[in-house]
Amino acid sequence: MQRQALGWRQAGSRVVLVPTMGALHDGHRSLISLARKKVKKDGVVVVSIYVNPVQFNDPQDLDNYPRTLSLDKKICREESVDIVFAPNNLYKKDESVEVKEDNLTTRLEGVHRPGHFTGVMTVVAKLFNLVLPDFSVFGEKDFQQVAVIRRMVRDMNYPISILVGPTLREVDGLAMSSRNVLLTGDLRGQATVLSRAIELSRQSIGSRSVYLKRRLRRFIEKQPDAQVDYIEFVDTINLNPIKTVNKGSRILLAAKIGPVRLIDNGLL
Ligand code: PAF
Repeated sequence: MQRQALGWRQAGSRVVLVPTMGALHDGHRSLISLARKKVKKDGVVVVSIYVNPVQFNDPQDLDNYPRTLSLDKKICREESVDIVFAPNNLYKKDESVEVKEDNLTTRLEGVHRPGHFTGVMTVVAKLFNLVLPDFSVFGEKDFQQVAVIRRMVRDMNYPISILVGPTLREVDGLAMSSRNVLLTGDLRGQATVLSRAIELSRQSIGSRSVYLKRRLRRFIEKQPDAQVDYIEFVDTINLNPIKTVNKGSRILLAAKIGPVRLIDNGLL
């Protein structure tokens, strides 16, 4: 991959990377199309597909993660992706270096999924070094991930611009996610409670966060199989919690719907 990337660099081609863990859906299609728009038809669009084991804190979550490589390749062909980079393994047995961040990763997903962001940053750093892209595209659905990657790019001086694609939603509001295929039976219907909670918070501008969080937790947990991990109102730039819910802040939330852990977020 790196040899190929050095060739593109020498030829002066602009390269954009869309890192994914596969199980591609329309949300990924929109990120790929953003990537293509950025480098036009002469540029190179690379989609990486790699279920990165070290970002899973729960071994069962890793086992259950959907893997649909041949379908993913078909989607990439339809979207005129130039290269699908789908390595079997990116780690040596005795690998001893990782990328760690000590501020943005200490809350929210970082608390509930210990080690997750170190795994994400380490694999994204590897992908950046292998693909040598000028641009890389991430989805806003993983809002904290985007903030963490931006921080890594800033602090490690990667010469890469980060582009962010908006969250795509199903007609009933459920944010598109590779994990949605795991929502069997009536779990699929219950999962819409997350986007409904975001809507509810948009109608509650001016409320004290502490009360609104309690109210939203009760609202979500009315669903028989829903269990909230966290609900937080944050400043969009530094992800610091805010006391009063104001316009321009963001709600970030995570909940388990049966065995499936989902995250979502929205601008207020
Ligand atoms: O967002 C994802 O799918 C993953 O966290 C990423 C960025 C591909 C790293 O494995």
